[in-house]
Amino acid sequence: MKKILIAGNWKMNTILPEAINLSKSIVEGIKGTDLKVQILICPPFVNLIPVYDIIKGSPIKLGAQNCHYADKGAYTGEISVPMLANVPCSHIIIGHSERRKYFSEIDDILNKKLKAVLNANITPVFCIGETLEDRQNGYAFKIIEWQLKEGLKEISNEDIEKIVIAYEPIWAIGTGIAATTEQIAEAHSFIRNILLKMIGKQAKNMLILYGGSVDATNSQSILEIPDVNGALIGGASLKANTFLSIINTAQNLV
Ligand code: 13P
Repeated sequence: MKKILIAGNWKMNTILPEAINLSKSIVEGIKGTDLKVQILICPPFVNLIPVYDIIKGSPIKLGAQNCHYADKGAYTGEISVPMLANVPCSHIIIGHSERRKYFSEIDDILNKKLKAVLNANITPVFCIGETLEDRQNGYAFKIIEWQLKEGLKEISNEDIEKIVIAYEPIWAIGTGIAATTEQIAEAHSFIRNILLKMIGKQAKNMLILYGGSVDATNSQSILEIPDVNGALIGGASLKANTFLSIINTAQNLV
């Protein structure tokens, strides 16, 4: 049976009352459903604890959008993995293209963050993906391979298997233009093959999510692609009805 994870990355959206309303609506929306897919929501840091209070007891999992790699110390403004583990968060997004671009998070830093997250037994959602320029110049697959190899450097096969990979072509994020199903299928099978070469057949169990303008209208055709194990959703995860509709689509595919 295909494993599917539907994840919402709320990014820097929702003040507390909005976060409360949104998470309450999602909890209500799945009540009584025999859930066959995993659901994850990733609110901003300050809303993690109040959202946890709403979703606890439901099957919805809670994730953070970033973390520091050190356990504690003089890093003003940062949030550590033990702090997030204590919320508790089950997942942390690492290496989102917005962090790479606006906060200069280079491969080496992301590798340290992945190790810190795995060390705390939290599941990293590791984002990779090329720019439009990379794709137009024919470098998309070189970039994807580089990001995977550098990000996962010196991590044991056993730990790599626990990582959720999110393929998010940067040109498809927030643009309303998702990659085509052919482009997604090609990239996901390329990623799966790299992982198979890295850690062997256990890589078949790894979840590879697609992200970039996923919404209620295209989710079915994307989630049907064999190497797609779910979606990392930005804008459409901020509307409870749309997010619930994507969950419902996923439910019908497993
Ligand atoms: P959109 O769904 O808004 O394109 O964002 C995708 C994304 O960046 C999720 O992490």
